[in-house]
Amino acid sequence: MNIFDILRTDHHDLLLKLENLLEPNGEDQNRLLRDLQTALLAHGKAEEYVVYDRLRQVPHRGELADQLCDEHQQIDDQVDELMRMGPEREEWDEKLTVLKTEVEAHLAEEESVVFPILEDALNERDAEDLGRDFMSSRDDVLQQQHFPLEKRKAPEGAPSKFS
Ligand SMILES: [Fe+2]
Ligand SMILES: [Fe+2]
Repeated sequence: MNIFDILRTDHHDLLLKLENLLEPNGEDQNRLLRDLQTALLAHGKAEEYVVYDRLRQVPHRGELADQLCDEHQQIDDQVDELMRMGPEREEWDEKLTVLKTEVEAHLAEEESVVFPILEDALNERDAEDLGRDFMSSRDDVLQQQHFPLEKRKAPEGAPSKFS
């Protein structure tokens, strides 16, 4: 699969998780939120290491990459806030709806702005390679989530800002 198909599939999955959280049908919202947090983190970090890193190589696109990283941070902060708050609190639904709106806007921006830039910059083979790098980076982040006591180290080739 090329990077675009993989990201689209991930985006679809993230939106489903958000919808599920808003309409939990008896499922444990704390667990659903933890699940969403892990999925967002793995997707976002892999994007930063692999996709935005490639975007930065396109002339004049560094600022866009910075802005998208900031959006990841804002989304992570909102998820943290929901974690601290818990589903019992009155403002939970309202905050969750704001989070959903922001995630939707971010994903739409990636698909409508970033995809065309990268589609121009990458040939078919590059797009496949980037897809493989993305999946391996996402797996690395997920593994670090499951084994949090292990010393964290950046995936090979990742920028040094890994933390
Ligand atoms: Fe993103
Ligand atoms: Fe994304």
